[in-house]
Amino acid sequence: MNDPIGPLYYKGVYHLFYQYNPFGAVWANLVWAHSVSYDLVNWVHLDHAIYPKEPFDINGCWSGSATILLGDKPAILYTGIDIKNRQVQNLAVPKNLSDPLLREWVKSPHNPLMTPPDDIDPTLFRDPSTAWQGPDNIWRVIIGSEINGDGMAILYRSKDFVNWTRSQNLLHSSNKTGIWECPDFYPVSINGESGLDTSVQTRFTKHVFKASFLSNHHDYYIMGNYEPKTDRYSVDMDSGLQLRYDYGKFYASKTFFDSAKKRRILWAWINESASESDDIKKGWSGLQSIPRSVLVGKSGKQLVQWPIKEIEKLRAKQVNIHDKELEGGSVLEVLGITASQADVEVSFDLPTVKEAELLDPNLADPQLLCSQKSAYKEGIIGPFGLLVLTSMEFKEQTAIFFRIYKSLGKYLVLLCSDQSRSSLRAEVDKSTYGAFVDVDPRHEKISLRTLIDHSIVESFGGEGRTCITARVYPTLAIGKEAHLYVFNNGTQGVKISRLSAWSMKEAQIVPILKEERPQ
Ligand code: FRU
Repeated sequence: MNDPIGPLYYKGVYHLFYQYNPFGAVWANLVWAHSVSYDLVNWVHLDHAIYPKEPFDINGCWSGSATILLGDKPAILYTGIDIKNRQVQNLAVPKNLSDPLLREWVKSPHNPLMTPPDDIDPTLFRDPSTAWQGPDNIWRVIIGSEINGDGMAILYRSKDFVNWTRSQNLLHSSNKTGIWECPDFYPVSINGESGLDTSVQTRFTKHVFKASFLSNHHDYYIMGNYEPKTDRYSVDMDSGLQLRYDYGKFYASKTFFDSAKKRRILWAWINESASESDDIKKGWSGLQSIPRSVLVGKSGKQLVQWPIKEIEKLRAKQVNIHDKELEGGSVLEVLGITASQADVEVSFDLPTVKEAELLDPNLADPQLLCSQKSAYKEGIIGPFGLLVLTSMEFKEQTAIFFRIYKSLGKYLVLLCSDQSRSSLRAEVDKSTYGAFVDVDPRHEKISLRTLIDHSIVESFGGEGRTCITARVYPTLAIGKEAHLYVFNNGTQGVKISRLSAWSMKEAQIVPILKEERPQ
């Protein structure tokens, strides 16, 4: 599987579609596979919703998005690879709106609705976003593209969702990034705890724009103000920073508005860090992130993400640690849970930050810092954090940890996910990931939540201000042989203010029963 596409909520049911190859564990033959859930945790697989059949999608049904039209009617816009191998945009709607499982989809007789304009390479025109409606009732949608190396979001407008006209404006573009895939554009509330439906706009909203850069396989976002009269999007000055949803593996993400719980939920494709021949051997590749709810953080300058509440249903046995000093150079095992499948929340108190290492501002590249100053290099305040998927005698371990620095009179909190010792296998990608967390260590605890599930480790630092996802392939630290530790390789002691860890049960993933299949 690759991209999550067209997530939507309809009549009590969550729907997830995803890019899927029915014939093998490699990328090819793309269809819209379809799964449904009542809680975003346990899923039932249904028959493929959209698959190549017509001249306008015969060579593949690629990514796209769902929009809920007036009268609670879902509609899907997706990219078809047509008979001439051009990327065109098509519409599909449910055959039977009284089926909450939306099992059958019909393609519009008007397809293709959008074909590549003359100035655009027909192989660089894809992934329609969820559409939004302005106060003028006109629908807008953006398509990912590239012209002369510049990544861009091309805007189309329509009165009826069928006839679309390209707008003179681009919604947004950037120099020499290469193609932007899977653009996403949505409002967020600057003063509330709720997510917003895609067409909502008030004095208290900002708009998030996200693009997936094929050139480096990262998802970047910015925040700014959108003016529907002119369709101009002006980016907040200090949001021009390179903000990422996740500083590890997290690509082709997509959000949707959950109208039942008034929240915006984010998903992404997490690909493998092993080779294609490994994928073929194990018979699958790629997975979906745990869904995250997205809100604007307190600073107003970035988003915060948190695993959806429902994930806590999988929590089983719990162990706790309170007020425990972790001296410099020490390690403490967290016993009593299934460490290969666990949810861990920990917060640390620092007695003082005065002694923090000085960091030359010119060397403040977090990714580089995390690789050079690995979990195993002694520091002053940190590295401290978790060792997950750790084997006996520490031959394999994945370290998620913090280091505190002082630079230009400010304190910097670095979060790293160090995979360098995650597997005895030499050939898998063990890159280390890192980013700063917008936390002031003088006034706040340093907190981390990490979800561990065999080969995926999803970490949320500073209550979701900085997220890092990693794929790992332990050979020893598997099943009961996996252990969990808290460690401190700094010279200064830190205190575990509170740690709670849970064994996690398996989610239920149910294939549809044969007799339930639509004819
Ligand atoms: C992103 C992407 C999309 C495309 C789809 C094809 O991973 O390349 O641009 O529509 O995957 O599977």
